Amino acid sequence: MTKGIIISGGWGTRLRPLTCTIPKSLIPVVNEPVIERQILLLKAVGIKDIILAVSVMSDVLKAYFGDGDKLGINIQYTDEKSPLGTAGAIKLAEDYIKDENFFMLNGDVILNFDFKEIIQAHARYKGLGVIASKVISDPSRYGVLIIDEDTNKITKFLEKTEYVPPKEMTISMPINAGVYLLEPEILTYIEPKKRVSIEKEVFPILADEGKLYYYPIPGIWKDIGKPEELLEGNIQLMNDIINNQKEKKENIIEENLKIEENVVINSPVAIGKNVVLKKNCKIGPNVIIGDNVHIGTYTEIKDTLIYNEAHISENVKCEKTIIADNCLIHDGVQLIGNNQNLVILSSYVEVMDNVKLVAPSKASLSVCHHDVVRLDVS
Ligand code: GDD
Ligand code: MG
Repeated sequence: MTKGIIISGGWGTRLRPLTCTIPKSLIPVVNEPVIERQILLLKAVGIKDIILAVSVMSDVLKAYFGDGDKLGINIQYTDEKSPLGTAGAIKLAEDYIKDENFFMLNGDVILNFDFKEIIQAHARYKGLGVIASKVISDPSRYGVLIIDEDTNKITKFLEKTEYVPPKEMTISMPINAGVYLLEPEILTYIEPKKRVSIEKEVFPILADEGKLYYYPIPGIWKDIGKPEELLEGNIQLMNDIINNQKEKKENIIEENLKIEENVVINSPVAIGKNVVLKKNCKIGPNVIIGDNVHIGTYTEIKDTLIYNEAHISENVKCEKTIIADNCLIHDGVQLIGNNQNLVILSSYVEVMDNVKLVAPSKASLSVCHHDVVRLDVS
């Protein structure tokens, strides 16, 4: 029976300070951890056994998923003392995956399509693996695939840094989306007990040998590696979920929303459980709110992610901001990011009355977990 392995042991450095308290793969996308959504896509094609290849903050992931019982699947863990690289991680799990083909996923990509199509593609091509892909207009920070369009064979695999597109032009290219269906024979290409990168040391060889095939992902795909991508990915997924609902609705609203008079909701928004929207507040568009969140009177929020248990008081203004769990935002605060750079508050941050935080043009403005902000920053 096909199994799934999800690699989720990286440091998530580009998402700091969020990843100081939340492992990257547990970061919520539309209020569910990105990796939980992947697990459910694997379960939807009948996969019952999933291995999480963990390392950094492994205890947090293990505590969250346990043995998988709550999701109706079996979860096992391989734990690397220090990260072994993307190939080293699956080599460590060899005993679990050596008998049949297996799905391998990067635990930080937003997906929402039927994996059955990859299974069918792999059965047709009969190679050693299928790599799912997306055509991206700036492929420079991804692995890139060169494809024979007649056969869908991957003739070259170039990991980032090996492929730098000319600066003066933006070229659209199919990139490695971090979703693979692989035959166990791949494991013979990986030296045990060493740090090995599948993208740098295994796929290029297999592509040269003509053993890998290409599968174009239908619909949305996003790596949540950077804050602005995390925000964009949430918005894309929210729209995708809304557009694919059986019953046509403009927003995603979970149970027990308490909404007072004169609240304005500009679609699309996603609102978790037990949220309170006090009178005259204005939410949306493009706002995703977690569970047990309070939004105060006359507060205005757009293009923003708010995680569970945050409390946002009166007359607050938020734009292009990520507010992690348990933050406390006092009256009159302004949190203003821009298209490239966000304001990011990590878990348990408190922002005092009337403070104004504006992201500069060159970098995001980040506040570490448990900090108390008393002065304006811009
Ligand atoms: N267990 C384990 N051990 N997991 C790891 C390790 C490791 O040593 N290193 C990375 N990972 C996990 C990360 O947690 C993440 O889920 C996934 O592997 C990918 O690592 P990233 O650090 O996010 O890589 P990337 O985004 O720069 O590049 C990768 O993904 C792109 C698509 O999003 C590559 O696979 C690229 O080729 C690809 O285009
Ligand atoms: Mg990534």
